[in-house]
Amino acid sequence: MTANYSLSNQDLRGPYSRHVEAICARHDHAMENSGASHAVIFSGNPKYAFLDDMSYPFNANPHFLSWVPLTELPLSYIVYTPGEKPVLIYYQPHDYWHVVPGEPDGFWVEQFDVRIVRDTDDVAQHLPAARDKCILIGDIDDDALAFGIDRINPSSAMHILHYARAIKTEYELACLRMASQRGVTGHVAAEAAFREGGSEFDIHQAYCKAVSHTESELPYGNIVALNNHSAVLHYTDFERTPPAIAKSFLIDAGARVHGYASDITRTYANDDTRFSELVARMDRLQLDIIHKIGIGLDYSSLHVDTHRMIAGLLVDARIATGDVDTLLSTGVTSAFFPHGLGHLLGIQVHDIGGHMVDESGNFLDPPSGHPFLRLTRTLEENMVFTIEPGVYVIDMLLENLRGTSAESHVNWDSVDWLRPFGGIRIEDNVRVTAAGAENMTRDAFAAIA
Ligand code: GLY
Ligand code: MN
Ligand code: MN
Repeated sequence: MTANYSLSNQDLRGPYSRHVEAICARHDHAMENSGASHAVIFSGNPKYAFLDDMSYPFNANPHFLSWVPLTELPLSYIVYTPGEKPVLIYYQPHDYWHVVPGEPDGFWVEQFDVRIVRDTDDVAQHLPAARDKCILIGDIDDDALAFGIDRINPSSAMHILHYARAIKTEYELACLRMASQRGVTGHVAAEAAFREGGSEFDIHQAYCKAVSHTESELPYGNIVALNNHSAVLHYTDFERTPPAIAKSFLIDAGARVHGYASDITRTYANDDTRFSELVARMDRLQLDIIHKIGIGLDYSSLHVDTHRMIAGLLVDARIATGDVDTLLSTGVTSAFFPHGLGHLLGIQVHDIGGHMVDESGNFLDPPSGHPFLRLTRTLEENMVFTIEPGVYVIDMLLENLRGTSAESHVNWDSVDWLRPFGGIRIEDNVRVTAAGAENMTRDAFAAIA
């Protein structure tokens, strides 16, 4: 029951070469707008804990990963000059303490003029001599890594690159589909471990084994929550012993393929009929939201629409009473659903550019009362984002309703009933198509069933 999440190098070669063409075109535009002749993209350097010689797990610059799928290649650079084959300065030190990057190999390799360097001092000779004609893109925390380039991350280029990242190329879509497929293998294993009575730690390990990721390879820390732990939105503890009774299970976990992430949440009931009906109701609600997706739709209004749908769910489930407008205006839906509907997804789990209106650096804030919404853009074909509605018992927020006009609209007995289950979230990764939406996550679950 393993999904095919590894398309062959041969399959990816064509889409990847077109992807590199698209990335070159974006950089042409960004460089022209910045008056630059060369773009230099730095992969990143290891970061060390204070007073220590141990580095944190390496996290490559997402701009570097948008060029080349090398997630574990620190201290390397891409040099792009319009009209020339991009140069990859590939740092492969002589080092007998650590595993060093292997020989350059894969579907990506023929797109680059690869120059292997053994020492960071050797980078300089591969950079354009006219450093004043270069822009450098990356996290430079040491002047020496800039090699005399002064223009670092100029907004005249960055806004253009960030705005463009929301629209995925055919190659990126293939990677994102594979990331969903890979994540879904983990979700299936995790559900089985939950049904077998595993602890949160056991379930987490079953997940990592199924997706074949170490913890630092995961796109974000797994959220594996039994019972009321599901009410902590970013619960990342792992209880080592199972609870006496596991009433509910929420898992928010993803996977990576060639640097691209999935971000998937499922919630499961054990044997409580009322809770399993609520999970099924949320599942239908989530699909109804996805059904509304189309080119030209404003994501902020979809988020507000979701609040209206959540109001309906709360009333149907006898958790709240009143009309939809009242439940929104008094803050009832926000107390039960206090996060955004979703976010752009790509190399970064919360991919950059979600609040951008255009490539000039104009931003659009979330609507008032919805500060945590990470995506306010108008939908375009081949945008990829998450849809992740939820309902939780978060006492810190519900207590704020006491003594206000909202209090009488909450059925507090139902809140007491729901509290031990924690909450529900269902999260899929979707792409905007001319016909509506492609649901990469549901497709992956269907393929593995
Ligand atoms: N897993 C983080 C999120 O859903 O945004
Ligand atoms: Mn998400
Ligand atoms: Mn998530």
